[in-house]
Amino acid sequence: MSAQFPVVRPRRLRRAPALRRMVAETRLAPADLVLPMFVKEGVGEPQPVPSMPGVFQHTRDSLRKAAHEAAEAGVGGIILFGIPAVKDGAGSGADDPDGIVQLALRDLASDLGDETVLMTDLCLDEYTDHGHCGVLTPAGEIDNDATLERYASIALAQAEAGAAVVGPSGMMDGQVGAIRTALDGAGHTDVAILAYSVKYASAYYGPFREAAECAPQFGDRSTHQQDPANAEESLREVLLDIDEGADMVMVKPAGAYLDIVRRVRDEVRVPVAAYQVSGEYAMVEAAAERGWIDRERTIMESLTSIRRAGADIVLTYWATEVSRRLS
Ligand code: PBG
Repeated sequence: MSAQFPVVRPRRLRRAPALRRMVAETRLAPADLVLPMFVKEGVGEPQPVPSMPGVFQHTRDSLRKAAHEAAEAGVGGIILFGIPAVKDGAGSGADDPDGIVQLALRDLASDLGDETVLMTDLCLDEYTDHGHCGVLTPAGEIDNDATLERYASIALAQAEAGAAVVGPSGMMDGQVGAIRTALDGAGHTDVAILAYSVKYASAYYGPFREAAECAPQFGDRSTHQQDPANAEESLREVLLDIDEGADMVMVKPAGAYLDIVRRVRDEVRVPVAAYQVSGEYAMVEAAAERGWIDRERTIMESLTSIRRAGADIVLTYWATEVSRRLS
């Protein structure tokens, strides 16, 4: 046997599907996936979101049906976003006990019980007429501390309606602590907080703003969301949120920030979630529609990569479809 032939051959373990499956380091499971869902007040029919084919602004009824399908597929959790019929400066729909998310939560809590984890996005941008994530000062700037009081009140409304996990996504300083204090003060010590700790000021949220009808009417979100140039800052945000009582932390978006997902996973001892956001979804759907990319393979590869980077939980608009494929 001449010495030029390799003795060590990594290809041996790639030879057949069963071998590849056995040595796979990362697995996707329905229980790790969370489905973001939109529910809109005062519409008779579910409304398709043009920039997100397959995603709808649900009615209460169509939400129940789609949530049931998700639970049946084994999806780990559902995170709800509400679109109120009327918006105002304070975002009053967000903490109204009869606001759309609260009504939807009661529906799903009675339909699904413990079958899947009921979660909420906790923010004001869907509810304010100006589209900002907080209440504004007379000068038109976001008032951080006044916004915390609104978030505390929203947390209570969502907890009372049956949320098991609330997800503050507004990037206000102190939001996790304010929400934890409010929840505990009202006896909701069991309601968990999934903190959107690391949230970049990202162009990848474009289609979501159409889905949730929450594009800011002036200015942008770069005074509270993070600069894509920064990484250390993300670790600081994560550690602060854990100090304030976050039970889980999130990195958002996912695909362009896999380095951050890995660094956060290595830094903390709580579950780490990553949000595969609307723009990530839209790009794959659009390219697939043109026949430029293999849709299913790209979806599976993107999700596997997010898990491999270190996310324990992945929020994805493909959660139901992928869960079905996995089981
Ligand atoms: C804020 C919120 C946003 C997203 C989730 N929560 C929008 C934003 O910060 O502008 C984006 C999600 C996505 O793009 O899929 N309520």
